[in-house]
Order: sequence, then structure tokens, then C-alpha cells
Amino acid sequence: MIIKPMIRSNICLSAHPLGCAAETMRQIEYIQARKASYAGLPGPKAVLVLGGSGGYGLATRIAAAFGSGAATVGLSFEKAPSDTKPGTPGWYNNRAFDEAATAAGLVTATLDGDAFSNEAKDEVIATARRLGLVFDLVVYSLASPVRTDPATGIMHRSVLKPIGQSFKGRSVDVFTGRFSDAEVGPCEEEDIANTVKVMGGEDWELWIKALAKAGLLAKDATTVAYSYIGPALSWPIYRDGTIGRAKIHLDATAKSMTARAIVPGLKAYVSVNKAVVTRASAVIPIIPLYVSVLFKVMKARGNHEDCIAQMDRLFRDRLYMKGPDGKILPPAVDAEGRIRLDDLELLPGVQAEVDAIMEKIGPDNLAELADVEGFKADFLAAHGFGLPGIDYDAEVATL
Ligand SMILES: NC(=O)c1ccc[n+]([C@@H]2O[C@H](COP(=O)([O-])OP(=O)(O)OC[C@H]3O[C@@H](n4cnc5c(N)ncnc54)[C@H](O)[C@@H]3O)[C@@H](O)[C@H]2O)c1
Repeated sequence: MIIKPMIRSNICLSAHPLGCAAETMRQIEYIQARKASYAGLPGPKAVLVLGGSGGYGLATRIAAAFGSGAATVGLSFEKAPSDTKPGTPGWYNNRAFDEAATAAGLVTATLDGDAFSNEAKDEVIATARRLGLVFDLVVYSLASPVRTDPATGIMHRSVLKPIGQSFKGRSVDVFTGRFSDAEVGPCEEEDIANTVKVMGGEDWELWIKALAKAGLLAKDATTVAYSYIGPALSWPIYRDGTIGRAKIHLDATAKSMTARAIVPGLKAYVSVNKAVVTRASAVIPIIPLYVSVLFKVMKARGNHEDCIAQMDRLFRDRLYMKGPDGKILPPAVDAEGRIRLDDLELLPGVQAEVDAIMEKIGPDNLAELADVEGFKADFLAAHGFGLPGIDYDAEVATL
């Protein structure tokens, strides 16, 4: 069939098989081009990436495999294609990753399932045993709207809402250039607990405990979950809202897992990453406008990064720095113990420039003051569209 982007309300409902493979390969080639700088680093040997099919998780898996040469197991929740309907982007990304990793002689296993379930944990454990892997790095990169708690069978839904006040923010539909004033009412009390249940650290800890109990977590292993803080203008709906509470729970989980040394020497970190465009980016009010302006400012300064550039920096400049004795140096962390990869985004100069633009931006100067084209290109690429060398008018097999 011929597959074109099907975009409704900032969500893309289709994915191009060849384009997703090309975008995955672009990221692999980005790391391969830097391979020499991974040589000699004490990188990971066996890595589990939960949420490894897209966005930050896929980039993590690529850096681990193609930079450090690690064996990787990826778990994600994706829809397979049928012969009449394309699958989700992550399904094609996973296939492209497995093909490239196998061709490069790397150990790889990709599983599809609900990470929150006991079955998925059992399946990962069985896979690691079959491959003889003991994980020295476990990355938690899930972004999910719902979680069924296996202990109770209750399905919890996360929401992106402010707490105790309404949030008003300008939003832009990057595909039409239309501005709107978004207003999101305050959450209900139970929304906070539900969002923490889905996006907080409870399931992360269940994974770490399950792997430790199975003897599949190495002594001195590292585990990392991803977070975001972002600019002050988004705080009422993000940092100080329901999702912010979940991220605070992640921070607390990291501290308590490290303190309790679930395996001897375990180090659990939250890494606060930069705003990038992933499948979910366009649905948060204010974020597409902010990100488009941020991209404009950071590209002009030459310090813009996408998912793969961020994860390359996570591996080479944070997690696997070598000390003079050849041992891994602990990563630089902030006062809360978090790794900060959002350092360049939050440079005061960058934020001041973004703030000044946000004051004066509107439909007439959107194209000039914001990198809407860059946002659109990344959003389309996350679904396999707009990649060079692909004939999007040609028939393509969905399977
Ligand atoms: N996008 C950003 O700008 C940004 C910035 C900083 C931090 N982060 C954080 O990074 C993390 C990943 O976000 P992303 O933007 O890369 O998301 P994404 O939507 O690109 O990827 C999410 C991944 O989670 C998987 N997933 C979702 N539900 C699942 C389930 N039930 N079981 C198994 N897998 C499941 C998906 O298959 C996919 O692999 C999140 O914690 C997010 O808050 C994102």
C-alpha cells in the first residue's frame, strides 16, 4: 500500500516501514561515526531497555549496542502490522534495530508486551537466562497513559493536569500554524495518585527487584529512569502538575533503591533529559510552541541535540567516564542526585532568549521566530516520514 502521514490533532496515526528503518539507521550511523570515542570506556555489557522502541529508549539501546557493543534486550508495547494496516513506528524500529544489531554481530532480543505486567517480567527473565545475560544496566524509558497494577488488577490512568489551579497557555498546531489558547482545569485529587502509579517509580522498582531476585542484576549494576523539568512557563502543568508528582516519586525511588542496595553496589539514577520531539511531544499544551522556539535558539547557538545526541552524551560524558585507575567515575549529579542532560536547554542565556521570543510570537512571525519546520521534521521522522531517499508515492509492504 501507499502510506502517507495521517495526522489528527497533533497525533500521527500511520507509520512508514522503510522510513522508520531509515530513521533507526540514521541514529545507528550517528553512534557508529563516534565509535572510536567509546573505545576504552568501561561501557555496559548487558543492557535491558524498558520502552526501547522509540524516543529516548531506542536511542539508549542504540548507544549501548553500537557504541559500547553491549548485548541488549528491549521491551516495548507496539502494534504489529497486518497486510492491510501498518504497524506502529516502534514495531518497525525494533525490526530495523534487530536486523542491524544481528548484522553487526551483537546479541539482541526484542520483546513485545506490557512492561507493567508480571508476564513481561517473567518473559524478560526467561530471555536473559536463555541468552546467558546478567544486566549491568537497566534503563526505564516508558511513557504510558495507563497501567494495570498486577497486584490489584486495577487500571490507573495518568493525566497531564495542573494541581489546585487552571493552566492557561498558548498552543500551536505545528501542521496548520493555528494558535489557540489552551486551558486545562485542575486535576481531581485521585488524578495525582493515579499519575504517580503510572509514571512514578513503583514499576521501576518492581523490575529491579524481580531481576535481582532472579540473579540477573550484576553487582554494581546501574539503573536509570528518565525525567524532565523544562522551562518555568510549563511548570504549572508539568513540573508542579500531576506528572511532576510522578517524577518526584521517581527521584525518591532512585534514592531509596541506591540506599537499600537491592544488589550490592546498585546505583539508581534519574536522568533529566532535554526536550525533544517524540511521538508524545505534540499533545502537551504549550510544548510544541516552546520546543519549536527552543530548537530555533539552540540551533542558532550550535548546541541543539536530539534523542541520539543526548544518549551519546549520557553514555560518554555521564555514565561511563573512566577515572585514572580505569574504573568508572560516578556521574556528575545535581543537589537532588540527578544526572542533568538538560543543562544546555536550561542555560540562563537560552531560557532568556526563549522567554523573549515567547512574549512576542504569533501567527505572523511564527515561521521566523520558531523552528516549526524542525519540529515537524522530527515529528514526521519519528513516524518514518520525510526521510531522504524514500519514495513515499511508491507501494510499500506493511509486513
Ligand atoms: N520527549 C521528551 O521531550 C522527554 C524529555 C525528557 C524526558 N523524557 C522522558 O523520557 C521517557 C521516555 O519518553 P519518550 O518521549 O522517549 O517516549 P516515547 O513515546 O517515544 O517512547 C515510549 C516507549 O514506552 C513504550 N511503552 C509504553 N507503554 C508501555 C507498556 N505498557 N509496556 C512496555 N512498553 C511501553 C513504548 O512502546 C515506547 O517504546 C519518559 O519518562 C519521558 O518523561 C522525555
